[in-house]
Amino acid sequence: MIMNDFKAREFDVIVVGGGGSGLRAAHTLSQSGLKVAVVSKVFPLRSHTVSAQGGINAALGNYGDDQWQWHMYDTVVGSDFLGDQDAIELMCKEAPETIIELEHMGLPFSRNEDGTIYQRSFGGQTLNFGQEVAHRTCCAQDRTGHALLHTLYQQNVAVATNFLNEWFAIDLVVDANGSVAGVSAIEMATGEIVFLKATATVLATGGGGQIFQSNTNAHICTGDGMAMVFRQNIGLQDMEMWQFHPTGLLGSGILISEGTRGEGGYLLNSNGERFMCDYAPHLKDLSCRDVVARCSMTEIREGRGCGPDKDHVLLKLSHLDPEVFIEKLPGITQIAMTYVGVDPRKDPIPVVPTCHYSMGGIPCNYHGQVLTVDHDGKDRKVPGLFAIGECANVSVHGANRLGANSLLDLVVLGRACGRYLQENIQSFTAVNPSHSDIERAFSRCKNLKKPSQGIDAVKLRKEMKKIMQEDFGVFREHASMEKGLKRLEVLRTMSKKITIRDQSAIFNTEMFNALELQNLIEVAYATAIAAFSRQESRGAHSRVDYPDRDDKKWLKHSIANADGTIQKRSVSKQTKFTAPIETALREH
Ligand code: FUM
Repeated sequence: MIMNDFKAREFDVIVVGGGGSGLRAAHTLSQSGLKVAVVSKVFPLRSHTVSAQGGINAALGNYGDDQWQWHMYDTVVGSDFLGDQDAIELMCKEAPETIIELEHMGLPFSRNEDGTIYQRSFGGQTLNFGQEVAHRTCCAQDRTGHALLHTLYQQNVAVATNFLNEWFAIDLVVDANGSVAGVSAIEMATGEIVFLKATATVLATGGGGQIFQSNTNAHICTGDGMAMVFRQNIGLQDMEMWQFHPTGLLGSGILISEGTRGEGGYLLNSNGERFMCDYAPHLKDLSCRDVVARCSMTEIREGRGCGPDKDHVLLKLSHLDPEVFIEKLPGITQIAMTYVGVDPRKDPIPVVPTCHYSMGGIPCNYHGQVLTVDHDGKDRKVPGLFAIGECANVSVHGANRLGANSLLDLVVLGRACGRYLQENIQSFTAVNPSHSDIERAFSRCKNLKKPSQGIDAVKLRKEMKKIMQEDFGVFREHASMEKGLKRLEVLRTMSKKITIRDQSAIFNTEMFNALELQNLIEVAYATAIAAFSRQESRGAHSRVDYPDRDDKKWLKHSIANADGTIQKRSVSKQTKFTAPIETALREH
């Protein structure tokens, strides 16, 4: 169909992104009879959810008593109190039922002898409010994301979800009142730009870990949804909170699952010392991720790193029962042998803290409704726009996500958003954007094809990653962040003038790389201004110059705006567990 001179296709709901959250939401929506399109820049089974390894948390209690309230407590404390407790409560309460639902959909979980779902230990997961280590993480060996994604994809095929595969979403189409009418998108195989019109647009575009030099993320994790929102002057929330996973493989950054430590592995420094016993005697290697990452980095910075460059620590697994490598950890065994030539049954794996996950993202409530903060400090919903999964900030992870709460977030909050839309979409007002509203959303591609302005996009990407790694990594301080931010501002201006040489229509990868780079730079900029502004240490945000948590000033979400300003938003519903709780979960 043609709409305002533009080629258009119309759906009830467009879900941008074919990973776990997008597919979970799409399933509920298609099942209810709505016309749904999943728009994905890769074939959905290549979405980054496929690489999730260790598992998904739920207080099933397969080894004795476990309670969702204990899971909630761990999640709140793990978040360093920045998580919104109404959303955390929903996630932890609905976790057991959601796991059983996935099991009934066909997800092949690992099993105990008695047929129940196998549950391993994971960082920061305890019983009875921090008393002892819990076994709460359900898994399919160390390939849980792979199993989850395939299950959800098949379920979507069964309910006739429409898939626009290898379509790249460019920008939101927004009318003069700020209501969202869909997205502009390119069909990669033809180069045709189409207005995908919808009553509701759900962003499920995943994270943006590619802003860092060393990360566990797929190359496709370029923060596309976050950047689309930021360009509309909707602020991004808690962008300073990036998780560094303690065990990224040295060199490539490929994830070596926390499940390895859940099965009994531990970290060693160059003296052969199990250093986590000194830093965190209670939970040791199964402390919260931000804690373990900082301890590893401290070992490296103080000269106890391993190898000729003293730039990593070692993950020892050789003491584990050989059966564990076959039954529970076949994936990481293969990865270590393939990428660093180490057989973990005999030798330790070289690992280093590596950027893994964005706790920050598009502010929204647990229905997925995207929120902005008005001048009077009140939340306002953006009509027609929703966000779920890693690109969203609900906030169930606060300043530090617990391992295996990410897959849980995808399925619980993906389903919650689907249910909300199913029940409410009939009452949404139709949005009819003007010619210029649509044209604006098409403009990025046109600008890229203008005559060359001599900007080298490859160099620009490299420099951005270096700045983020060096100035906004595990440890941060004023002077280096200030320097990094100044340079990022220059790169941001340059990124808007990138042009491409390849003018062809079909699979123009130079164009997609350029569009992704522009997205990355917006995400990097939001991260930098938020990190520079938060003058305290909380969760993953660790400032050498402000080493303590400052609840008086900073028990607040940060909102990073595209004009460089920062607003604060209250952390909602501090009802159950309030800071400060002195707990072994945060010992260090
Ligand atoms: O270590 C892991 O398997 C990662 C899990 C997660 O990030 O949730």
